[in-house]
Amino acid sequence: MKDNFAHYALETLAVRAGQERSQFNEHSEAMYLTSSFVFDSAAQAAARFSGEEAGNVYSRFTNPTVSAFQERLAVLEGGEACIATASGMSAILALVMALCSNGDHIVASTGLFGATQQMFGTLLPRFGIRTTSVAQTDPAAWQAAIRPETKLFFLETPSNPLTEIADIPALVALAQSRGILVAVDNCFCTPILQRPLDLGVDLVVHSATKYLDGQGRVIGGAVVGRKIHTEEVFKFLRTAGPCLSAFNAWILLKGMETLPIRMAAQSANALQLAQWLEKQPQVTRVYYPGLTSHPQYELACRQQKSGGAILSFSVAGGRPAAWQVVDHCRLMSITANLGDTKTTLTHPATTTHGRITAEQRRAAGITEGLLRIAVGLEAVVDLQNDLARGLSLIG
Ligand SMILES: Cc1ncc(COP(=O)(O)O)c(C=O)c1O
Repeated sequence: MKDNFAHYALETLAVRAGQERSQFNEHSEAMYLTSSFVFDSAAQAAARFSGEEAGNVYSRFTNPTVSAFQERLAVLEGGEACIATASGMSAILALVMALCSNGDHIVASTGLFGATQQMFGTLLPRFGIRTTSVAQTDPAAWQAAIRPETKLFFLETPSNPLTEIADIPALVALAQSRGILVAVDNCFCTPILQRPLDLGVDLVVHSATKYLDGQGRVIGGAVVGRKIHTEEVFKFLRTAGPCLSAFNAWILLKGMETLPIRMAAQSANALQLAQWLEKQPQVTRVYYPGLTSHPQYELACRQQKSGGAILSFSVAGGRPAAWQVVDHCRLMSITANLGDTKTTLTHPATTTHGRITAEQRRAAGITEGLLRIAVGLEAVVDLQNDLARGLSLIG
């Protein structure tokens, strides 16, 4: 008998939600690697295509392994429904294409992921959708940016890479009073540390590539929210086709089983590393919401279960000094991905945020001396020693 999962704790949902056993009664989730599904009759084919009969049709828009992933993430986020996509970027594109039209306006935070800024700044205007970027931390700036045609608030909290926190309830109250939708990119926290839908947000997007996978294996994304919105996202997905593969969905299902323990352990490591970095003389500033020195520490404590596993820090000496730290690391991986059990290190100004203009970088606070670490599961002492090698060479 299928259980109603609503009453279980997140740890249980992460392991169990969404699984529907086949007639073979497999214990692990089955991977349905098939592009299409066979019908019993012409009438059934017609009914499935028209939507009169529920069931699988074609893996661009229906696949049981993908459905299991969607159900698990929807339950974890506390959303009515979830639509999986090929990547985090296609989740954001699908959300905008489904809910915005030519002439609509978006208010977004300046600290968004680089490719998201690129999409909002250069791709969407070609389709008549304009975006105003405002400071993540200043609700008055969001209010001032609202126009009659504003359709959507889009934010990412904590932001990448400076870990700025948006006051979700304040922005939700503002948006609701003006009939504006709010979408949060919840990639950094995952539902284990932060559940934006519980705070009144309309839609959550994910780069599943990050913590949901957790081991840097596959690319995927998702949009979670109320059916009234996700059905529009589904229509876009069915027509435009940026779908998640069954193989990637299966990997993500396996990843999500350990999501709660990874988030707890990696956050604890990040806090320890951030506290150590604060004591290093070559480090001019550490950005981590779990530090009492973070300007929004109180807000982070209210909104998130912990500071998360991403931190940034700046070193005196700009790009040469930052690159010296990177080039002397032997353990951390020099790669832009994050959310992995293996710690990753990146220089945002020349990688993730290299395609936006220097002015956009300045507005987002991405300086040349800034480094971002996505803390993994290694022993913190080994990470400290890895950084100390390069830091000690900074004069
Ligand atoms: C916060 C955030 N959102 C979205 C994305 C895009 O996700 P993907 O690479 O899966 O398209 C990323 C990727 O790094 C990200 O860090």
